[in-house]
Formats: sequence, structure tokens, C-alpha cells
Amino acid sequence: MSKLFSPLPLNSKIIRNRLAVAPMTTQQSSPDGTVSIEESAWLERLAEDGYGLIISCASAISSTSTAFHNQLSVGNDNMIVGLTQLSKRMKIHNSIHLIQLCHGGSRAIESLTGVKPHSASSYAMPMIADFVPPETLSVKQIEDIISDFANACERVSKAGFDGVELHGANGYLFTQFISKMTNLRNDNYGGDLENRARFAREVVQACRKKVPKDFIIGFRMSFESMGLETGLDIDENIQIINWLAEDGIDYVHTSHMSYAANTSKYPDKIALSYLRSKITSTLPLIGVGGILSSVDAEKAMEYGADIVAIGRAAIGNKQLPKYFKEGKTLPNHTPYSESVLKEIGISDNFIDYLKNAPPLASLKIIAE
Ligand SMILES: Cc1cc2nc3c(=O)[nH]c(=O)nc-3n(C[C@H](O)[C@H](O)[C@H](O)COP(=O)(O)O)c2cc1C
Repeated sequence: MSKLFSPLPLNSKIIRNRLAVAPMTTQQSSPDGTVSIEESAWLERLAEDGYGLIISCASAISSTSTAFHNQLSVGNDNMIVGLTQLSKRMKIHNSIHLIQLCHGGSRAIESLTGVKPHSASSYAMPMIADFVPPETLSVKQIEDIISDFANACERVSKAGFDGVELHGANGYLFTQFISKMTNLRNDNYGGDLENRARFAREVVQACRKKVPKDFIIGFRMSFESMGLETGLDIDENIQIINWLAEDGIDYVHTSHMSYAANTSKYPDKIALSYLRSKITSTLPLIGVGGILSSVDAEKAMEYGADIVAIGRAAIGNKQLPKYFKEGKTLPNHTPYSESVLKEIGISDNFIDYLKNAPPLASLKIIAE
């Protein structure tokens, strides 16, 4: 059996193969954050497709953390009923399924949350046209957000999901605390690395206390600055992950657009291999970015990934794991046409998001 289709323990659960669906925002939940028919159908389809691990879209942990329109929420107990029904339907297909938990921080949307965006500090981002400097969180507000994460975790567990992935990548609140550029605090939550890591560590510790031992807690990390993310250092972030491993995370997930990317700090080193050599050896590592075939997937595993996550290719190709298993070429490639996406059941809201989300240019839909 190829390693790609061999099982792997995550905490005390077993994923049946090393193929994961990368978390992807879909903007197709109900306006109040409850899981919609479209979001349920999408996640259930992924479970049917045969992935070992499915990670949901970035979901709001509270009413003040929302970063997208029609974003899935686990911010209050009303969300549990719909998620429980969904989780039961996903379980039939033997997937291990997680909800990604996100606080937008400076990127929370005031018109949706009703409050001004908050972050580790107030900072400017001149490269973003209409960026409004966030307000600085007080220590009490930080403690409340830590509780919000823990409560969200508990709801996900009550709904029967196998775990959560904390969204520490792509510039949201965890990154805003970790980055030297966006965390300008001079109290216990800012300054040296230990202090900039404190928020993430306290969230993991608080989450662990609220859920059963076998509940999976993963952490997604942008190890280096990319695009609008600044102030990140790969060695600092490896140290943070090793601390989080002590605090009880069950895996780490990189965030790259290419699984073969080199690190910007060490341009001759492949990031995945460098991470694997430095991260606590027992902590499973998820690699991601441009994996389009079993050859890519095996290569990513040779570089150091224990699991490979598929994003864009999972949208436009049903039953991707079967194609990988049989060594066959995927039928559909980006840029997808709208009719292909409609034919395989992608909702109008998700298609609109794919059309309009600027960082996802490679996903532009072909005009028809
Ligand atoms: C439509 C779309 C939405 C995304 N939303 C999220 C998200 O909610 N959370 C996250 O961590 N990454 C998100 N990403 C990044 C993916 O998880 C993944 O890292 C990236 O697409 C690279 O993998 P790929 O080359 O297989 O697409 C998103 C990507 C796409 C294409």
C-alpha cells in the first residue's frame, strides 16, 4: 500500500488515508452563521469523496469575530443543532472532520459584528486601500476571546465533530499577535517571542480543558511573511509550534501556495523539509499547495508532510482520492468554468466568492 493511502493516528483517532481537504471559505452559510443546506451539501460531498480528513471553512468563534459574509459560526449554542445533523451525515463516510476556528482581529467586519475591529495593537497597513487601524485589545478582552475559543471548541465537540483547527495562518488574530509588525504591545502579550506566543498558548490550553482527551486540536501556521502578512520568522514560529505541542496540539498545518516552496529565510531549503527537521518529531505535519496528482502528494510526503491537504483541486473534482489512488489525471483544472462548478453542485454563493476573492486569482472562473 502506498504511504498516501495508509492510515495515520491523530490523537487517538485514525485517519484512513493521508489526504485532507484544506480549509476553504465558501461564504455559503446562513447570514446568522447557522450551517446552510449548501454548506452541509458541500461538506457531505467531501466526506463522500473519500478524504481521510476534512477541515471546514474558517468559522467565527463569536459574534464579534466574523471576517466574512455568510461565514459559518460556532459562536453560540444555537449553532449546535445543525452541526450535529451534519456531523452525523459525514460520519457515515468514515471521515475525520474538523471545524476551523477563526477570529478575524483587525480583519473582522464591523458591519457584521457591530463593533470596531480589535487586534493585539493598533497598526496601519498603507498597502491596503481602506484599511482601518484596529483598536488595541485590553487584557480583559483578550481573556474573553480565549474563553470564546474554548467555548467554541466545546460546541464543536458537542456537535460530534472530531476536532478543530485553530486558524493561526493568513493574517488573522493569531498571526496579528505573533507578528512583530502588528503586535506592538509592551505587556505580557507583546514584546519578546514568549510574550507574542502567549495568546496562542493560552487559547490551546483553555481549549484542551474544555474537550475530551481524544478531541483533535490542530494549529495552522503561516511560518513566514507572505503577501500582506509581515513580521513573521520561520525559526520563531517553529519554536511557537514546539511550545504548542507541549500545550497539547495534535498536528500542525503549514500554509503555502506551493508544497515545494523554499523558505525565504533559507532560499536553498524546501520549507516542508526544513519544518520537518525542526518541529517536534511526533507532531504530524500537514503540507499543502498545488497538489494536483498522486506524484505531487508523494513528493510532498518525501519532503516531510505526514498528510497532504488539497484546496482548489478539491473544489472542481469529485472523488479526487480515487483519481490519486488509480494514478489518473484529474478531469478538471483551474481556471474552472462556471458550468463545470455548477454541474458538480457548487453553490452560487461559493461560485461568487471564487469569482471575486482577489487573493485567489488562480481560481478565476472562465467567462462563458
Ligand atoms: C476558495 C478558497 C478559500 C480559502 N479559505 C481558507 C480558509 O478559510 N482558511 C484557511 O486556512 N485557508 C484558506 N484557503 C487556503 C487553502 O486552505 C490552501 O492553503 C490554498 O488554497 C493552497 O492549497 P491548493 O493549492 O491545494 O489550493 C482558501 C483557499 C481557497 C482557494
